[in-house]
Order: sequence, then C-alpha cells, then structure tokens
Amino acid sequence: MTQTAEMRTHQFESHSGPETIAVGHRVAALLAPPKFLILRGDLGAGKTTLVKGIAEALEAADPDEVTSPTFTLIHEYEGARAVDGRREPVMLYHLDLYRIQNERQLDSLGLEELSSPESIVLVEWGEKFPSVVKRSQGEIEMRATGGDSRSITLTLKD
Ligand SMILES: Nc1ncnc2c1ncn2[C@@H]1O[C@H](COP(=O)(O)OP(=O)(O)OP(=O)(O)O)[C@@H](O)[C@H]1O
Ligand SMILES: [Mg+2]
Repeated sequence: MTQTAEMRTHQFESHSGPETIAVGHRVAALLAPPKFLILRGDLGAGKTTLVKGIAEALEAADPDEVTSPTFTLIHEYEGARAVDGRREPVMLYHLDLYRIQNERQLDSLGLEELSSPESIVLVEWGEKFPSVVKRSQGEIEMRATGGDSRSITLTLKD
C-alpha cells in the first residue's frame, strides 16, 4: 500500500476467475460504507467477477447470483459487514452504464438516491460521465496483463 495526502492505493494480482473472486473478498474488507467507486476495465477484464467476490464477502449474494447489470443497469444486494464485532448492514449496488448515452438518461437512474450511509456503489463504465467521476470517491481498475492474469488496483480518495 502506498499512502499520500489524498489517495490510498491497494494493488492485487490475479491469475484466474476464482482468484479474482478471492481478491474481491480482500477488496470488500477495505470498503467501509459509504463508498461510491468507479469500476474500470476493458470488456471482459473481470469487473463483474470481482463484484461476485465483493458480494460474497458481504454475505450479500453467492457468486453465481451476481450477474452483469448490462441490461438491468442496477443490481442491488443486501448484506452485512462486521464492525467491532457487530454486524452492520450494507447495501451493495452494482451498476453498468455501458448502454447509458447521455446525462439525461443518467439522471433517470437516480444515482444520488443510492447513496446512503450503508451503501457501497460500484459503477462499471462510470468514467464515461464527468458527473459520475466527480461523485466518485475512488476507483477499482482491472487490467489484463497477459493470458488470464489481471492487475487490480483500488484507489481511495481520502
Ligand atoms: N483473472 C481473471 N479474473 C477475472 N475473470 C477472468 C480471469 N481470467 C479469465 N477470466 C474470465 O474472463 C471473463 C470476465 O468476465 P466479467 O463479466 O467478469 O468481465 P467484465 O469486466 O465485467 O466484462 P464487461 O465489460 O463485459 O461487463 C470471465 O469469463 C472469466 O471467467
Ligand atoms: Mg461486467
């Protein structure tokens, strides 16, 4: 982990889908709600696979219940995380803005309404929209590094 005044960065490597799910568990532990993050990476980079791991760690869904929100745009999962030995509720929202074409369509999704003290919002293709970038508290970037290998970087603004 590197630390600067305004950013915290966590770096992970994966060599398979299952390993990306395991990285998702480790990422989930670093995401204290509320969080609103952009989930970046090329088509097939493994973004949805990572969300499977995050959802599993939050006891919000089994990996095979987590699918791409490409057509439905928003998937919502109810989970919990342990904080000081207590179970705190978490709402996990997984969005895919690939098919959203303009700020007007974006407005109709009601992103602001998803933000609550217990929410973790992960937005695929959020970098398309300046308003989403502005709202975001950081990002998770997935990069293919040859074959099934992926480099996964979580950056959190302070
Ligand atoms: N290291 C890896 N991590 C994640 N997925 C991997 C890895 N190696 C191979 N894969 C495969 O790549 C595919 C990744 O699909 P996934 O839906 O997670 O990607 P995505 O980034 O969400 O794509 P999209 O942009 O289409 O939403 C899966 O079929 C998965 O099995
Ligand atoms: Mg996806």
